[in-house]
Amino acid sequence: MTPLPRRPRLSFFVSHRGSNMRAIVSACQTGALAADPVLLISNNRTSAALNWAAENGLPHAHLSPKSSGSEDALDQAHLDALQEAGADLIILAGYMRKIGPRVLNAFSNRILNIHPALLPKYGGQGMYGHHVHEAVVSNKESESGVTVHLVDDEYDTGPIIAQAKVPVFREDTPDDVSARVLVQEHRFFSETLIRIVSGEIDLDALG
Ligand code: GRF
Repeated sequence: MTPLPRRPRLSFFVSHRGSNMRAIVSACQTGALAADPVLLISNNRTSAALNWAAENGLPHAHLSPKSSGSEDALDQAHLDALQEAGADLIILAGYMRKIGPRVLNAFSNRILNIHPALLPKYGGQGMYGHHVHEAVVSNKESESGVTVHLVDDEYDTGPIIAQAKVPVFREDTPDDVSARVLVQEHRFFSETLIRIVSGEIDLDALG
């Protein structure tokens, strides 16, 4: 893989809300993160993320298996859009689908995902959103957290880049844990990207 440029171009894949994407875009705007958001792709035509991108001038595309005709055509459409945007990094932030083999191959060690738990615990198919935090509370964990990891062809199994913990208190509901983790996510994803862009974290040494 070619080295990351000093100021990488970021593309986002988001299915729903997009609060992590917005936090990262904001870090770029303040100058804290030396990177340029260039594209948002969503599989969900009515997602808040897509709406936000449209209102805020971030180039965006709605691409789904239905709109492309097949999974393979969708994979190619993703690749075309990413190459046209000149994307250097792909940021999955609440993207509820797997990434196809063409994009995985073209962006080897350049696709990051954020997961709202301390992987390898509470990951894998079906472990998303409130399911994660419900499992954490019902197992009486004393801590949970955030994992940023490289993406492979399975859910939540790629090499871990960085993790941050949050406490879980005895009286917490899953919603309490979710809210605490989300605050940490918004801070931690940008912080991790800053360490990647500065060269402190070498993605090619992980994958
Ligand atoms: C986050 O909790 C993230 O960890 C998970 O999906 C959620 C997305 O939230 N993968 P948002 O769309 O960024 O608000």
